[in-house]
Amino acid sequence: MKLRTALLLLGSMMLCASQATASGAHKTPTAPADFLSKVSPIKADEADAAVLKEGGKIYTKKCAKCHGETGDGKGSAAGELTIKPMDMSAPGYMAGRKDGQLFWIMMNGSPNTDMKAFGPGSEQNYSEEEIWKVIAYMRANFTK
Ligand code: HEC
Repeated sequence: MKLRTALLLLGSMMLCASQATASGAHKTPTAPADFLSKVSPIKADEADAAVLKEGGKIYTKKCAKCHGETGDGKGSAAGELTIKPMDMSAPGYMAGRKDGQLFWIMMNGSPNTDMKAFGPGSEQNYSEEEIWKVIAYMRANFTK
């Protein structure tokens, strides 16, 4: 009995250790080429106030709890996540991310993370247009 308890303990310790390593080594997957080359139909710096407002509404309601209001990744729910959201408010981060990358992750989610799919057919079921509006909002409001 004692040996079994010890083995169980050892097992759960090893599991914890492997999870810690996995999260430390996590790299955000890169969109496939056909997505990466996509360019948003909405230019963030020329977008209508109404378009940005609509994108902002979705962001505040669905994204900020993990990604934070400013995109810094410090939303109220972020602390509990094994794989944390990146700091998208870091200078140069958004500028270095292609429209197609942001769009792909929002459409499909990021496997084995809490980033779920938001695109058509997903539980959230946002249209492609709505997703581009959220991206425009992020580009217009996060540090570039
Ligand atoms: C439950 C927490 C959670 C919610 C809610 C959430 N995300 Fe995420 N998101 C994450 C995590 C964690 C990652 C990192 C995934 C990875 O590194 O593989 C991520 C990654 C991303 C990325 C990838 C950025 C890049 O550089 O490739 C984008 C874009 C993104 N999220 C946008 C959004 C938007 C927009 C919403 C709302 C519609 C949203 N997320 C909602 C947790 C969340």
